Amino acid sequence: MNSEDVSILCDAVINSEPMDEILLSKFIAAVASRNVEVSAAESWLKAVHKHGISAQDTITLTNEMMNSGSILTWEKEPHLVVDKHSTGGVGDKMSLMLAPALAACGLKVPMLAGRGLGHTGGTIDKLESIPGFNCNLTPQQMQDSVQQIGCCIAAQNDAIAPADGLLYAIRDVTQTIDSIPLITASIISKKAAEGLHSLVLDVKCGSAAFMKTEQDAIQLAQSMVAVASGLGIKCQAQITSMDNPIGSHIGNSLEVIESIEVLQGKGHEDTRNLVIMQASSLLLLSNVVETTAEGDAMVSQVLGDGSALNKFEQMCICQGVSIETASMLCKNPYDVLPISSAKIEFISTEKGYVSSINSLNLADIARKHGAGRFDIEDIIVPEVGFIIIKNIGEKIDSGQCWMEFHYTTEPTDEEISLLNSSITISQHQNPPQPRLITVVDEPRGK
Ligand code: URA
Repeated sequence: MNSEDVSILCDAVINSEPMDEILLSKFIAAVASRNVEVSAAESWLKAVHKHGISAQDTITLTNEMMNSGSILTWEKEPHLVVDKHSTGGVGDKMSLMLAPALAACGLKVPMLAGRGLGHTGGTIDKLESIPGFNCNLTPQQMQDSVQQIGCCIAAQNDAIAPADGLLYAIRDVTQTIDSIPLITASIISKKAAEGLHSLVLDVKCGSAAFMKTEQDAIQLAQSMVAVASGLGIKCQAQITSMDNPIGSHIGNSLEVIESIEVLQGKGHEDTRNLVIMQASSLLLLSNVVETTAEGDAMVSQVLGDGSALNKFEQMCICQGVSIETASMLCKNPYDVLPISSAKIEFISTEKGYVSSINSLNLADIARKHGAGRFDIEDIIVPEVGFIIIKNIGEKIDSGQCWMEFHYTTEPTDEEISLLNSSITISQHQNPPQPRLITVVDEPRGK
């Protein structure tokens, strides 16, 4: 692809004209095979970031990016193939429970997930804290796992939507990440390449989310739902609040522990409710149930009767964990996962009710201590993180512990002071607000 052709595409973007489909297709194929000048790709990304592109061009772009690599195909029961994408939250461990719970309900989940970069952890990092868990699956291995047990969770790689790998890397260094059409094409192309029938999007909104305001979250949700729908995928976006941490555990090993507790039929209500809401929506989109109440009941059932946990155990074994380790993990995760021997307890100096916990402070400190990355090469320290002992709305007395910090390197005095100030206690009990703010459905008539 020569630079002149890329210039024609840039001019169309700058002049708000439709991009030539044949040129766009050539450009994305060249990006995928790395046969394009990085400077030309940079110019195009900057033009899209600055001027935006139409909804139709976003669909065409997403389609080309999806077609730039392997596409999973499902001959048997394609209407049961589903997935979820979250824009990322603090303590967001939903995928770990959602994939096996949906498989236990009879759906097929070929989930692709990312490693963490930014203040929120990645699903793959969490799973890799399980000894032996292999996330590097080929498209064929993904298909085999899904046919065999109903789900898999694999790391994004260049076999699927390879154009996104280079475009994302260039966006990262050219400050062009925060573009709705580019985010839409990046996320939906990878999901569409899984051969999905239905997709739920969890678009986080709030102080610890990528999208800070409800208006921005809705705009991103509308774009992603419209494009997924334009590619023939049934899609719903759930806009959920991301101010307070999700559930009780934050950090890689610790989030696996909380997930297993939910799969054991216990666990934190906040986490459990989110899993039920997302899974239920996918059951409804797949026509497995007719009402949300029926979907909720089906998901509660598989979380309560051990069948979702059993799918999780099978998924671990299918992805490289020994039978003994997987069995021990599901019975008592503390015996298997890396756990820090050093922890600090944070003690309340006030009496009242927990009204907020600053997720961003917790995430930033956990990241500095190795729970997340600053650079793609950084090594994750799986045992680092927090356990929240007193959640939003709970009564607390002066002298009671509200949170534990699990670490491997001593925190500084500044970090301890910031963590101490990350809880707000009020004299009145305000019940926790529901996570769900609103939903964005596909256009009517679809
Ligand atoms: N996640 C992605 O995969 N792509 C984006 O552009 C943003 C978040």
